[in-house]
Amino acid sequence: MKIIASNFKTNHTRKSTQEFITKLDESLSQDSNNRVFVFPPNTALLEDSFKNLTIGSQNAYPIESGSVTGEIGLNQLQEFNINTILIGHSERREIIKESQEICIEKFNFFKQYGFTIIYCIGENLKTKQNGLDSTLSFLESELLGIDINYDKLIIAYEPIWAIGTGVSATCSDIENVHSKLKQKLGKIPLLYGGSVKPDNTKDILSISGVDGILVGSASWELGSFCKILENSKEC
Ligand code: 13P
Repeated sequence: MKIIASNFKTNHTRKSTQEFITKLDESLSQDSNNRVFVFPPNTALLEDSFKNLTIGSQNAYPIESGSVTGEIGLNQLQEFNINTILIGHSERREIIKESQEICIEKFNFFKQYGFTIIYCIGENLKTKQNGLDSTLSFLESELLGIDINYDKLIIAYEPIWAIGTGVSATCSDIENVHSKLKQKLGKIPLLYGGSVKPDNTKDILSISGVDGILVGSASWELGSFCKILENSKEC
């Protein structure tokens, strides 16, 4: 069983999300092998009641409801029965300037409500160029304060330099990092993300220590995401 997750980021409208997810759910009916997640933008959240996939939120503020302009909280997610969330994506850390402290706060809050949490970590190019030890200590810093024994935790390793660039990390890069992370994380599922496409899905999913993939751009078009799912079947 592999975990295959699609992160829509700031793509798709409510209407196109509905069409995409309805068709995807139908096409998945014979595919019981994988656990599939879709993270639409928050304006396009759908009731998490599909048969073959789980809907999650890309982001929410650690609050039930209150005064945080521009954010959504637990109440808004519960209205859609959403209990899965992405935390710590590098685009939020880099562009929105989310600190490790706020990631920890979000983690603790949504853990308390039993959410499945896909917690993202990943180094930038400069850190990668400083060698594997630098990368590992950076990744360690992004795990600081996170309860890695939480049974609904999934970690996604997404090297920033591979995100949206079309150039995935090499299989040996992925294997090196995943094998080290696995030593720390034990049974926690570990996903890879960063330029996963239909034609590299099989190779990436065959790497030891890769329990799944978190896909951005190549998952935004249904045909492409279906190919990824097809190519992940025998892995
Ligand atoms: P890409 O697949 O577009 O590189 O994005 C990866 C990602 O950030 C998924 O969360």
